[in-house]
Amino acid sequence: MTSTINRLGIDLVDLDDLRARLNETLVRRILSSNEHRRYEAIKDADRKLQFLAGRFAAKEAYTKAYRTFESPLNFSDVDIDTDKTGAPVLRSPYRSGDTVHVSISHTKHHAVAVVWVESDTQKDTHEELKL
Ligand SMILES: CC(C)(COP(=O)(O)OP(=O)(O)OC[C@H]1O[C@@H](n2cnc3c(N)ncnc32)[C@H](O)[C@@H]1OP(=O)(O)O)[C@@H](O)C(=O)NCCC(=O)NCCS
Repeated sequence: MTSTINRLGIDLVDLDDLRARLNETLVRRILSSNEHRRYEAIKDADRKLQFLAGRFAAKEAYTKAYRTFESPLNFSDVDIDTDKTGAPVLRSPYRSGDTVHVSISHTKHHAVAVVWVESDTQKDTHEELKL
């Protein structure tokens, strides 16, 4: 019999803290190549930081939902695209059979993200958090 394990993660990012740490290495560490293209296309500096902070928060929240990863997780492997309504859609090579729901919000000062993961217990073995 299969049942579903529900996992929840949340993260809050302070935009001033992120701005103070901002450099290309950090941006590349956080964003997938698709996200990086979108980030570079944003002209407004504040909106750019919000976009980065929202993705950072979502990937931290995604990590928290699982509590532990057997092997290191690279945020740049995880891609958060948007659907035609603008809603975020997270695609990950880690535990790719799971269903991941993500929601992002930001103000001038903070970005917050909540991630909810649904895992099928039949597939839920602890070594699966590897690529
Ligand atoms: C889209 C909407 C949810 C954004 O909310 P907001 O308070 O302006 O902005 P927030 O900072 O809270 O959220 C922004 C994030 O919401 C997410 N988002 C955007 N559109 C979304 C949607 N349709 N559904 C879910 N999430 C959405 C995105 O992740 C976005 O961040 P990103 O662009 O950096 O990825 C808001 O404009 C809305 O409620 N729209 C639907 C209602 C509507 O159309 N009202 C107008 C009627 S006149």
